[in-house]
Amino acid sequence: MVCVAASCGRQEGSKEENPVIEAIMSRRSIRKYQDKAVPRDLLAKIADCGIHAPNARNAQRWEVRIVDSPAFIDGVTKVFLAEKPEVAARNTFFKNVFRNAPAIICVAGQEGNFVDIDCGLMGQNMMLAAHSLGLGTCCLGGPVDLLTKSEAARPYYEALGFSEGYSLKYILAVGWPEEAPDARPRDAGKVRFVEFE
Ligand SMILES: Cc1cc2nc3c(=O)[nH]c(=O)nc-3n(C[C@H](O)[C@H](O)[C@H](O)COP(=O)(O)O)c2cc1C
Repeated sequence: MVCVAASCGRQEGSKEENPVIEAIMSRRSIRKYQDKAVPRDLLAKIADCGIHAPNARNAQRWEVRIVDSPAFIDGVTKVFLAEKPEVAARNTFFKNVFRNAPAIICVAGQEGNFVDIDCGLMGQNMMLAAHSLGLGTCCLGGPVDLLTKSEAARPYYEALGFSEGYSLKYILAVGWPEEAPDARPRDAGKVRFVEFE
């Protein structure tokens, strides 16, 4: 049988020898975190890895805000729970609206071609850097609407201090993992070599 799926040679669960590939393959979205602060030098290092991602014309049309203030995280969570109290009630682990993380990294981008791609590449750099440091992450789109559209959340969004013309794209939850989930399956059939002669 000829296998054309590009990743068909990889054994599920196998340990990669290349540390970059190992990091890519072993990263998971983490939604349970320990009650333990993330040192700021690590958060700064993660963000620095983010801004070293490739970006169109090196225009760097992004801004990054790191938040580890419990007052901010708990405050936004209160706003969320006032709107959706049932979420905490049905989730016994619920600590906060940022998938229970003690720190978040908020990424905003300007309007324009390729900015979403730039911001996404930055996000993966940050998630892999965090993972390599033993930290867990989860990319969050869910709380973006809350922060940008809820009147009650406005003081928190304003506190992020993004420049005029920038809008919040996503938030990364960051913390010390308290779970080790299995990999979510991927469809290797999405990847094909093209034979053309
Ligand atoms: C743009 C984007 C938005 C996401 N938003 C959320 C979210 O709001 N809540 C959440 O729990 N996970 C969110 N995720 C995480 C995905 O659910 C996760 O990456 C996917 O299920 C694959 O799992 P893995 O990251 O463990 O490989 C988001 C991921 C991306 C890239």
